Amino acid sequence: MPVRTYFTALFAAALTGLIVSTAAPAQETEAAPETGISTFVMPRSGPYSPDRIAIPNARAIAAWIRSGHSNATSEAFTHWDADGAIPPNCSVCHSGAGFRSYHGLDGSPPGLPENPVPVGGVVDCATCHDPGMGQITEVKLPSGAMHPVTSSAEAACVTCHQARTSGANVTKAVGDLPEDEVGPELSFVNPHYAGAAASNFGSYGKLGYQYGGKTYTGRFLHAKPVSGCLSCHDPHSLEVTEDTCLICHQTGDDQAIRISRQSYDGSGDTAKGIYEDIKANSATLMAAIETYAAEVAGVPVVYDGAHHPYFFADANGDGLADQQDGKPVRYNAWTPRMLKAAYNWKVVNADQGIHVHNPHYALELLYDSTEDLYAATGGDFAALGLAR
Ligand code: HEC
Ligand code: HEC
Ligand code: HEC
Ligand code: HEC
Ligand code: HEC
Repeated sequence: MPVRTYFTALFAAALTGLIVSTAAPAQETEAAPETGISTFVMPRSGPYSPDRIAIPNARAIAAWIRSGHSNATSEAFTHWDADGAIPPNCSVCHSGAGFRSYHGLDGSPPGLPENPVPVGGVVDCATCHDPGMGQITEVKLPSGAMHPVTSSAEAACVTCHQARTSGANVTKAVGDLPEDEVGPELSFVNPHYAGAAASNFGSYGKLGYQYGGKTYTGRFLHAKPVSGCLSCHDPHSLEVTEDTCLICHQTGDDQAIRISRQSYDGSGDTAKGIYEDIKANSATLMAAIETYAAEVAGVPVVYDGAHHPYFFADANGDGLADQQDGKPVRYNAWTPRMLKAAYNWKVVNADQGIHVHNPHYALELLYDSTEDLYAATGGDFAALGLAR
């Protein structure tokens, strides 16, 4: 933990009033999150003997401080530093202050903040512990659906980990353009990042582009008593412990866990984790996108996950993005069919835990997208041996 991060994080906590100096005795109790936390970290006066000071929140702070939520130096919290403020629509998930404003917890009307939010915020303590959190009963999803929440923790996680699009954004973007016609106006639709709640909701959240005539898995409830994000993730460190999985699975390695008895990727291997099937089918879909781009759209594509907007033109087919004015040329020959498939590929790959959050929804999106591209390129889809 870089020193700067540590202090910025503590500062955020202090500013939101959660770290209160007090000389109160050690037996202070921790209030339930819903009722807010009264906490103390530093006595008003000495002697400063750390081991003699009760810090009810020490465990929570110590865990949070090593999580991504407190990482003030990450791209997710520094992206707007040069601008000096975070635009309202980004601030909702990229700073505690924006989040509180969105839910009307700071006294402002609920909805997007009226003004840009100062930079420097993280997912601070009050993001989840504001006393008003308990009053939130539903959270709006990108599809427009209102999701009823049963706890303030769910309200928090779902607000920020819902991605930013649904399949409807793709439908809208392609309009009534014929499937294989290049639309010069078309550009990649990015579902955004770490949309774990959205992938967990499956067809109910409508994160993916869902093809007509197909049915899709809904919310993946896993198995009782697994009931939500906190069944697996620590709310502060965000970590998942293998012990949780071992209650029911034979291994605690999330990438090795498998229940499904059929092979989805054509390998016939049902000993490996379902994670591996999703990974293999992702690679198959990406190969199909590349073939389609070259043969049907007419301009080869290269994918570069490190640079937005990820898909670049490779007109000369040398495997490298074309350059113009020292910059890579964004892919410019999108057709409706290709846009849908690329969007779904990104949906699956933007959630590092999709194999746990909703493996079957991921497999369905990959299967249908690949099948659809093969229909246009004339490839032998059946020969891939994929299962849905
Ligand atoms: C205000 C928005 C916000 C809320 C609320 C929020 N998150 Fe996050 N979460 C983020 C952002 C932004 C990141 C990326 C942080 C980074 O890159 O440093 C993240 C990262 C994560 C990660 C990745 C692991 C890590 O250490 O970076 C997990 C897991 C996670 N959040 C789970 C949760 C859970 C579970 C909840 C609900 C208890 C939750 N989040 C609530 C915005 C939020
Ligand atoms: C619905 C919540 C939400 C909204 C709204 C949102 N983001 Fe994010 N964003 C996230 C989460 C969660 C992550 C964390 C991904 C990670 O790094 O693990 C993230 C990550 C990022 C990253 C880091 C990506 C990387 O590669 O590390 C950037 C940049 C970003 N968002 C930009 C934006 C911009 C610009 C806006 C507004 C136009 C915006 N976000 C709006 C939730 C949101
Ligand atoms: C992403 C949401 C989130 C953030 C950020 C967060 N908490 Fe929590 N915290 C929770 C949830 C949810 C619970 C309840 C956990 C449970 O019921 O098992 C909780 C429980 C607690 C508890 C009581 C149980 C325990 O673990 O000791 C304390 C104390 C606490 N939080 C303090 C803090 C402090 C201090 C911060 C900031 C450094 C913080 N929390 C940041 C979600 C969050
Ligand atoms: C059944 C257990 C389980 C449940 C329930 C669960 N997760 Fe996860 N999650 C995991 C595992 C396992 C991973 C992948 C391993 C890791 O990154 O720690 C993961 C990964 C993630 C990541 C990506 C972490 C990264 O490093 O980029 C985020 C964000 C996340 N989960 C958020 C959530 C949210 C929000 C919910 C509730 C909607 C949720 N998870 C529900 C087990 C679970
Ligand atoms: C209470 C028991 C229970 C716990 C705890 C649990 N799981 Fe599961 N898990 C199941 C059941 C049952 C299924 C099958 C559900 C279904 O397909 O409808 C499943 C399915 C899965 C799958 C999909 C496997 C496949 O082949 O479809 C993965 C991956 C997974 N769990 C990972 C995890 C991880 C990682 C953890 C720990 C963080 C965890 N599970 C904790 C019971 C549990």
